[in-house]
Amino acid sequence: MEYSRKEFISFLGKTSLGALVMPQFLISCGNTTKPAPEFKDTSEAVLKKLKDVALEAIQPSHKDDLLLANGLNYDIIAKYGDEISKEETFGDNNDFTCFIPFDEKNPKDGLLWVNHEYINPLFVSGYNYRKPNAPKTKEQVDKEMYCVGGTIVRIKEENGKWNVVKNDPHNKRITAQTPIKLNWDTPIAGKTTVIGTNSNCSGGITPWKTFLTCEENYDNCFGEIKYDKNNKPSRVASRYGWEKYYNYSPEHYGWVVEINPIDGSAQKHIALGRFAHECCTLYELADKRVVAYSGDDKNNEYLYKFISSKPSSLKEGTLYVADTENGKWLALDWEKQPLLKTAFKNQTEVLIRAREAAKILGATELNRPEDIEIDPVSGNVFVSLTNNKWKNDFHGSILKIEETGGKYDSLTFKASTFIAGGEENGFSCPDNLAFDMSGNLWITSDMSGSAMNKKDKPYMAFKNNSLFVIPRYGKDAGKVIRVASAPIDAELTGPWFSPDGKTLFLSVQHPGEQTKDKKHPTSTWPFDQDNIPKSAIVAIQGDLIEKMNKLQQIENVN
Ligand code: FEO
Ligand code: CA
Ligand code: CA
Ligand code: CA
Repeated sequence: MEYSRKEFISFLGKTSLGALVMPQFLISCGNTTKPAPEFKDTSEAVLKKLKDVALEAIQPSHKDDLLLANGLNYDIIAKYGDEISKEETFGDNNDFTCFIPFDEKNPKDGLLWVNHEYINPLFVSGYNYRKPNAPKTKEQVDKEMYCVGGTIVRIKEENGKWNVVKNDPHNKRITAQTPIKLNWDTPIAGKTTVIGTNSNCSGGITPWKTFLTCEENYDNCFGEIKYDKNNKPSRVASRYGWEKYYNYSPEHYGWVVEINPIDGSAQKHIALGRFAHECCTLYELADKRVVAYSGDDKNNEYLYKFISSKPSSLKEGTLYVADTENGKWLALDWEKQPLLKTAFKNQTEVLIRAREAAKILGATELNRPEDIEIDPVSGNVFVSLTNNKWKNDFHGSILKIEETGGKYDSLTFKASTFIAGGEENGFSCPDNLAFDMSGNLWITSDMSGSAMNKKDKPYMAFKNNSLFVIPRYGKDAGKVIRVASAPIDAELTGPWFSPDGKTLFLSVQHPGEQTKDKKHPTSTWPFDQDNIPKSAIVAIQGDLIEKMNKLQQIENVN
């Protein structure tokens, strides 16, 4: 798509923050947008200072380090293997983060949820997938299963620095071995409680202040059930081979999982369908019913939304899939869709085999839908489409969904491309999205480690994966500005703003992922005494974030 700054700005819209549509629960939990107290400071001196300073982008880099733009600094909060309590350690490959303060009046003390998406076996269990010369032992599988899932840790900011409160009673791990209830009346593959969560990529937050963690590439762990033309099922083996020791049904994974921050109890929400859930982004309607958006991050898969029929329910309601060509949400409803009645036994089967049901209804294939955010200013829904090399889409784009009448429970919408990745716009393969307090859009990139910085691949110009911001206001409005560059082979994921907007929590995921020999890792970030690469959560602070939070104020004065 031809990119035009003018188009972009009009697209984003410059509505004042007074017209914010973001629901209160997102505002108070710091996901986005509550005007900072500083917004009230309109002194000429402050505004002049801000206006004169342009945001300074950093250049693409191959460096094995977390590089930040001027005006930003970072501290590591937790990294792979850190003790969080006497019994538990921090998992591997951290992704989604979500911070909920204990008390809304104190944004500096609360519980941080962190997803542990998958493992780098070479460093976790010592198993080398590049030289699979020995069978994986049960001990190795147990280590791998411990290091995925998620972590709850209490964190506190003191003297400008965030730290884990070690041994706090809230600190706990949810792993691939934790029993989890299904929020559904019919058993799935014979069970109403299943073992573990895995492949936890991105997630979300509920209006009732719990975490949502999404099971994405679950087939890596226990494989998948496939059906042939005669509807005969067969089991496809997993990549990790965990089913050799733990014969759990693949149908127990691929769900949205809700975690209670206080006691760590978990439940899987069957009504939201089973697929490679990247994230789950909720909107609460005036009558407390919820709308949940979620994308299936696989080539040629779909975008879904669930609309509850009862207040605060992720069980009672209807799951829809997007026909973006005709702007329609199609109901995955066994009772109402004759085509689904012919193909499946009941609604539970429709939900387990949501991908097949969506295809039958004629949903639109998308180029790997990743993160979804609701623009706090315009109310539009943004969906990252990361790429699809099989359709010659190497750099991805961001899709904009405008629900009819601005109503999230509408069954029609308009879809258009907001911005396309590529050299012209300076980024490729958008993944996570986050809006800050001023409605600026932050984007992380996920070029795959096997293609990044390779001469024969189309990603050379971008160098390492990065974090970008698109200011909504001020003289840089509409520009894509690179503000962080990841260590070698890493991806920056899980951006989440603290409730006061002053800290950006960010995951540095899978540095050194392409390492073939443990003795010669491709990265040694974060440069601790072990001299091996480790994923870690960082807290980013600084003038640049403060400045971004004030951009809207400058615009209004102009
Ligand atoms: Fe785990 Fe879709 O990124
Ligand atoms: Ca992701
Ligand atoms: Ca997000
Ligand atoms: Ca990704």
